[in-house]
Amino acid sequence: MISSSKIQQDARGTPVSSCMPESLDDYERALRQFQSYFGDPTVTLAQTLERDPEFVLGHIFNASAMLMMTERQYLPDVLDSIKNAEALAHKSNDREKGLLAGTRHWMEGRWDLATVVWDQVLAEYPRDALALQFAHLTDFFLGDAVNLRDRIGRVIGSWSETTPGYSYILGMQAFGLEECNQFARAEETAMKALSIEARDGWSVHAMAHVLEMQNRYEEGQQFMRSRVDDWAPGNGFAFHNWWHLALFHMEQEDFVSALQLYDEQILPGESDMSMQMLDASALLWRLHLQDVDLGDRWTMIADLWARKTPAENGYYAFNDLHAVIALVGAGRLSEARAILADLQKAATDNPPLTAMMARDVGVPAAQAMIAFAEQRYDDVIDALYPIRSIANRFGGSNAQRDILTQTLIEAAIRGGREGLATNLLSEREVHKPFSPLTRRFKKRLLQ
Ligand SMILES: [Fe+2]
Repeated sequence: MISSSKIQQDARGTPVSSCMPESLDDYERALRQFQSYFGDPTVTLAQTLERDPEFVLGHIFNASAMLMMTERQYLPDVLDSIKNAEALAHKSNDREKGLLAGTRHWMEGRWDLATVVWDQVLAEYPRDALALQFAHLTDFFLGDAVNLRDRIGRVIGSWSETTPGYSYILGMQAFGLEECNQFARAEETAMKALSIEARDGWSVHAMAHVLEMQNRYEEGQQFMRSRVDDWAPGNGFAFHNWWHLALFHMEQEDFVSALQLYDEQILPGESDMSMQMLDASALLWRLHLQDVDLGDRWTMIADLWARKTPAENGYYAFNDLHAVIALVGAGRLSEARAILADLQKAATDNPPLTAMMARDVGVPAAQAMIAFAEQRYDDVIDALYPIRSIANRFGGSNAQRDILTQTLIEAAIRGGREGLATNLLSEREVHKPFSPLTRRFKKRLLQ
C-alpha cells in the first residue's frame, strides 16, 4: 500500500510510484523523446535505471519501447525489463500494474489484448501519455483505423493546450482521422498540432498522409520541403517522412528525385531497423513496377533482410512481406520462399493474433510477390484480389498497403487482364484523378 504522502505525479498529473526525484525528470525527457522521435528513450532510461533500479515505471517504459520496434531480437531484453518490473510489483501503483500487464500481453503475442488493458489504464488516467502512445502505435501495427482515431477521442477531453505534450496527442488523432478518411478534420487537427509544436514529426506525418490520400502531391512536396528543418535533422522517424516525400515525387513520375531520396535519406547506409528497411523495400518495389532502373540497390537491401533471417521470420507478417519483396527484387527467390515457408508456419503455430496476420494477409501477399517475379500474373491476381479489402489486418497504413494494389494493377496489365486492369484504374482515378502516375499505368494498359 502506498501512503498518499508518497504519491508522486508526472507532468500531466498521472501517479508515479516511489522513485528518485531525478528519475521523474528523466521520465519526462524519455517520454518527450518517445513522442517526438528526437533522441532515444531507451538510452535515457538505461542511465536512469542504473542510478535508480527500483524505478518501476522506467522498466515498464523500457520494455514497451523495445516492443514497439516489432522485432523478435528485442524479446530477451524486454523479458528482463518485465521481470524487473514484476519484482517491484509490491511497490507499484494501479497505473503501473496496468501498464505492465499490457506489456506482458504484447510480449506474449496478444497485442490486441494489450490495447484493451492500456485503455483500462486510460479510463482511470486519461492523461497517461505512455499508455496512449503504446496503444496508438499498436493500433497502427494492427491496422486498426477506428481505434487509431477513437482511442484518442476517448481521452482528449482531459487534455488541453496547457497539458505538456498536447501536440503529440493531436498528431495521433490527426493520423487516426486520416486513416478513417476524414481528411478535412485530420488536416485541421494536424495543423493545430503543428501550430503548437512545429517539430512534431508525427503531425507532419499525419499531414503527409492527408496530402497523399487526396492526391495533393505538389502541395505535399512543398509542405514537406518547407518544413524539413523541423522534422528531419536528428529525428529517428525522418526516414519515413522522407519516404512520404519520395511518394509525392513518384506520383509526378519524378523517379530520379525519388531515387535520390532513397540514396540520401531513406537508406543512406546500412540499417538494422526493420521499419526503415521496409520503407526502403517498398519504395524500390514501386519503382520496379514502373520499370525504373534500380542499379544494384536491391543487393544491399536484400542483404540487410537476409541478416535477419531466419531469426525474425514469422514474428510480424508486415515485416516478412517486405523482406520477401527485397529478396524477390534481388532475384533471390529461394531465400524469399524460405521466408514464405516460415510465414506459413507462423500462420498455424503463432499465437492467434499474429497467426491470423500471417494467414489472412502475409502468406497470400508474399505468394503474390514471388508469383510476380515468376511472371505468373494470374496467380498474383488470385492471391491479391481477395485480400484487398482485409489487408489492414496485417497492419500498416492505407498508403503503405497501396503497394498491394499497385502490384495487382501491374499484374493485370502485364497478364493481359484488360477488363480487370481497366476497372482497377477506374477506381484509382476516382482517388487520384490528375496523377501522372495513374496516367502512366493507363498508358501501359493501352500499349
Ligand atoms: Fe506513413
